[in-house]
Amino acid sequence: MGSAFRLLTILLVGCLAAKLGYLYRHAKNASEIPSSPPAFGCPKLDEAAALGRFRRLITFPTVSNVSAPDHVANPQAFHDLLAALEESYPRVWQQLNVEAVGSGGLSRLITWAGSDPALPPILFVSHLDVVPVTPGTEDEWTHPPWSGALAGGFVWGRGSLDTKFSAAALLEAAEGALAAGWAPERTIMLAFGHDEEVGGALGAGAIAQLLRSRGVELEVVVDEGGVVLMDGLRPFSSGPVALVGTAEKGYVNLEVVVRSPGGHSAMPPIDGSSVASQLGRLLTALALLPAPSRLAAPVTDMLGALAPAAPAWMRLLLANCEQERSWLVNRLLAFAFRRLLSGETAAMVGDSLALTMLQSGVAYNVLPQEARLNFNVRLLPGSSPEAMLAHLRSAAGWAGVDAEVTAVKGMGWSASNVTSAQGPHFRALRRVIQETWRQEGKPPVLVVPFLLTGATDSRHYAALSRGGVLRFVPFGVNKAAGELGLLHATNERVRAQHFAAAVCAYTRAFQLMAGPPAPVAAGDAGVGVAGAAGAAGEGSA
Ligand SMILES: *[C@@H]1O[C@H](CO)[C@@H](O)[C@H](O)[C@H]1NC(C)=O
Ligand SMILES: *[C@@H]1O[C@H](CO)[C@@H](O)[C@H](O)[C@H]1NC(C)=O
Ligand SMILES: *[C@@H]1O[C@H](CO)[C@@H](O)[C@H](O)[C@H]1NC(C)=O
Repeated sequence: MGSAFRLLTILLVGCLAAKLGYLYRHAKNASEIPSSPPAFGCPKLDEAAALGRFRRLITFPTVSNVSAPDHVANPQAFHDLLAALEESYPRVWQQLNVEAVGSGGLSRLITWAGSDPALPPILFVSHLDVVPVTPGTEDEWTHPPWSGALAGGFVWGRGSLDTKFSAAALLEAAEGALAAGWAPERTIMLAFGHDEEVGGALGAGAIAQLLRSRGVELEVVVDEGGVVLMDGLRPFSSGPVALVGTAEKGYVNLEVVVRSPGGHSAMPPIDGSSVASQLGRLLTALALLPAPSRLAAPVTDMLGALAPAAPAWMRLLLANCEQERSWLVNRLLAFAFRRLLSGETAAMVGDSLALTMLQSGVAYNVLPQEARLNFNVRLLPGSSPEAMLAHLRSAAGWAGVDAEVTAVKGMGWSASNVTSAQGPHFRALRRVIQETWRQEGKPPVLVVPFLLTGATDSRHYAALSRGGVLRFVPFGVNKAAGELGLLHATNERVRAQHFAAAVCAYTRAFQLMAGPPAPVAAGDAGVGVAGAAGAAGEGSA
């Protein structure tokens, strides 16, 4: 991470200036490093068979398509996948309440009734659809995209990472717990939408509507989003770091129309009134006057959570970075994050505005009378689409451009609320991760809240949940090996050894988040997944 040094400088200057005395008084607390939790004995699992059931799911090309009826171009692939699920996880289908929901009946809501009906249910979310394989790139795959091949330690194929992995691991964990005779105290629900990749309205949206119509209030929602970074997050930790999304950004499309009288291209106007001149001024204004940056939750939570793993002197700064800061220091820090680090970091401290489509002109020799610009905007928690509209209008005004700025109807939503990183659900999930990804003799996995810049199906359920949403799938990704870039890409694949680890983690999540904390008939104390985590570290060298 080349930007590590700059990051340190920013944190040093910003936080030191803000809170020197405060840091000194609270030095002791910030230095506390949590001790390692006890190991959780993962239930026994026939790994090859479990992996086989997961790999089979990848062979069904369940591509969602926003223009097709029910959002699916090939309904047969979905019906085949649903039949395979029923065959692979028979206890779940026989003993739990499985409902076909959503348009075409292609989504599934599975209800595992708890022994205490007074406890609001916990909802685990995954999805059955995948993004398409870009036509013409099929031959670039080392192993075909619908093969589910097991090779070189990876399971290959479209949907392996996103996110048949979590669907299969959740069902495998439920199947195993049912076989062991375990039953929850709190009702557990599993929701599998069929159109997450195109917005989720007909799948998760319909499931949420059904729950709402039944008056269901959820305790907490666990969806996809974060992963375990196996090679850590330097300079804070070289050991595994688990990212748990506690918020996600909002989404809105804006349209700007710029007009001009037009005319013959042999005599362009010299007063700056042409469409081209106006566009030039508008884009320059937007580059010079970006929307304000701010450092807010959950990014401040993230910095605080990284503290225990950082070098001693930095630990103090990070741990106190989240304390109340002056407006000026906040803006300075946010500006530094935005300007000095990567695009990824910038997206965490600002509402992003990206020009994605531009249409203008009809002929080589005709000055255009109009240009139409489309901006895709991602909003921080707490930001409103109206503020971004006002920002664009003022940039146009500053540039002397008579632009018409409107929000595009249809696809769009506000940012999520921020789920507490101090609350009981985050703490339970942290314990799940630290117990099941434990490595003997090593400090516990760092579990860090973060802000998703993308969107998940969880937003359909968020309003039903009193304990918020946690976004995390227990798989390990090796950042240095470029595995984060495999999402939606050619050669999408996931490390096979992480599958058993994920089944173990979901098993433990059921126990700690829905109770009782241990099975009635204790499973074999297996080798655990500590070995898996260690091996992944070595394998990635
Ligand atoms: C420091 O830690 C103690 C015990 O863990 C806690 O009671 C106290 O509130 C903490 N102080 C601050 C400023 O966080
Ligand atoms: C999506 O569905 C529409 C309508 O059925 C079809 O024309 C289009 O080719 C499909 N797109 C993809 C990527 O399959
Ligand atoms: C955020 O929380 C408030 C209060 O609980 C709720 O009214 C609102 O709908 C939530 N917003 C989102 C985007 O979930």
